[in-house]
Amino acid sequence: MAVNQSQLGQMFEQVLRLSKVDASQSVAILKSHYSDARTVQAATDAALRLGAKVYSVELPSFNHPTAMGNDMTAYCGDTALTGNIAAQKALEAADLIVDTMMLLHSPEQEQILKTGTRILLAVEPPEVLARMLPTEEDKARVMAAAAVLEKARMMTVKSSAGSDFRAPLGQYPTVTEYGYVDEPGRWDHWPSGFLFTWPNEEQAEGVLVLDVGDILLPFKTYARERITLEIEKGFVTRIHGGFEAEYLRDYMAYFNDPEVYGISHIGWGLQPRAQWTAMGLHDKNDGMCMDARAFYGNFLFSTGPNTEVGGTRKTPCHMDIALRRCDIRVDDLQVVAEGEVVAPAASRVR
Ligand SMILES: [Fe+2]
Repeated sequence: MAVNQSQLGQMFEQVLRLSKVDASQSVAILKSHYSDARTVQAATDAALRLGAKVYSVELPSFNHPTAMGNDMTAYCGDTALTGNIAAQKALEAADLIVDTMMLLHSPEQEQILKTGTRILLAVEPPEVLARMLPTEEDKARVMAAAAVLEKARMMTVKSSAGSDFRAPLGQYPTVTEYGYVDEPGRWDHWPSGFLFTWPNEEQAEGVLVLDVGDILLPFKTYARERITLEIEKGFVTRIHGGFEAEYLRDYMAYFNDPEVYGISHIGWGLQPRAQWTAMGLHDKNDGMCMDARAFYGNFLFSTGPNTEVGGTRKTPCHMDIALRRCDIRVDDLQVVAEGEVVAPAASRVR
């Protein structure tokens, strides 16, 4: 059923409060014609109730001719803000931006964040926002895991399906997503609840075997057969299996860019209210399926861009792939055992 507008407004008020919005703050609502009107209204009302100075920045929508499908992650890099310096300046002037349009993976977003402006992405349907309303407990659990990942020099992933993957770490920072933006220059996404980093350039290697039921985004499909990815020197070098491997291979080749095969962010899910099953109950155009990215105990692996952390790979193809039932280790600490979060203790749901 649908969340009513009053509930949605109250939820935005909670998230903006957690994001330290008060009467001293200016809040920009970034939107386009496809933004959810309920979300735009609720964000505006909540920011006003908190006493903030509120304004909207509406941009014409942008679709790259190469993009396939409507998923917001199906084409990365260029957005409606690309080259629009006046709009960028208007956004940089805000203390906080509620992004109902999707700037993620764009260099412009990084420039805005560098000015100290905070960005909260909110593009999932209101009912998904409601189920995964962020809490301070979510942040505490993600930060407990981040304290371990930040110091780590190696992540290894194994599974009974045959995954055996190693990623030396240290070159790139750890990124946390807990659903609100309480620090200057912070980006976050409501809903979320996971963490990740990037392998050192050209060092990740091994094999990842996607098992039946693992999730491929932006396809929004559950794998029905195993897909094997071979990884050498930081790049996927072979994709094999049956039809689904062929589909993935052909999709990535379509972009005609060797950088699409680079390993992007890797990490694990810590959000118990995100559900592996949720994607099956939504249409493909309902949102970007953060459930798949955040469900508790997943291994979230991805390919393509690394501009979020200052890397040079600005490539349009970004696959997020959520694997279940993996064993994940960071250095000597096993953090996930067969898809169950086991450490650190403060990252587990009590
Ligand atoms: Fe991703």
